[in-house]
Amino acid sequence: MKLLHIIATPRGQESRTLKVTEAFFEGLEENLPDCKVDTLDVTKEKLPELTVKAVNGKYVLLGGKDLPDDLKPAWSDIIKHIERFLSADGYVISSPMWNFSVPYYLKHYIDVILQPKYLFKYTEKGPEGLVKNKKMVVITSRGGDYSPGSPSHAYDFQEPYIRAVFGLAGILDITFINSQPMDALGPDVQKEKIKESQKTARKAGQSFFTG
Ligand SMILES: Cc1cc2nc3c(=O)[nH]c(=O)nc-3n(C[C@H](O)[C@H](O)[C@H](O)COP(=O)(O)O)c2cc1C
Repeated sequence: MKLLHIIATPRGQESRTLKVTEAFFEGLEENLPDCKVDTLDVTKEKLPELTVKAVNGKYVLLGGKDLPDDLKPAWSDIIKHIERFLSADGYVISSPMWNFSVPYYLKHYIDVILQPKYLFKYTEKGPEGLVKNKKMVVITSRGGDYSPGSPSHAYDFQEPYIRAVFGLAGILDITFINSQPMDALGPDVQKEKIKESQKTARKAGQSFFTG
């Protein structure tokens, strides 16, 4: 089994999101010590630019044709990232909320990999996801509290966005572990919420491929 871990916070040791993620991987280690983890830190790794040639290639694929030779060089790194994504059996995303949604690093990665022919295709019945039977856990942290029923819930564009983009690719089994509020109610609440999330994350790791 291989898991792709996508990191979208630049804060390293300081990151609350990664503190919760650690508990997930401890649970996974208990469950599947041989599971391979491919770590992709999109805040550090240089992602391909979506130049005019790269974008033109997307339209060629949307039209159901293969990439012409002159667009292939602009697509070689995009295809490497798509292949790396598709080679995983499951996914963990560690992402803080930035301005109600995902940090731009993660948005960039999504714009790179979410390509027709590879992750989805159009059919007469609408788009069809091509990434079948794969699970995803998304670990987030937020300064405020956006949980269902809270006054800010309508401003959570992070969870619905992630569900929409990976849902387009066919990944429908997505579990969110959201730590909140991390900043709004001070350090004691922050610690308590991180602890709660770590428990949930450890359980999610213990049952990730087997539950
Ligand atoms: C650029 C930036 C934008 C942010 N935007 C929001 C936001 O819209 N809503 C919110 O509740 N917190 C926001 N925050 C706070 C973070 O979501 C919060 O501190 C989170 O725990 C950081 O996660 P990390 O420690 O894993 O990086 C923002 C932080 C940064 C740096």
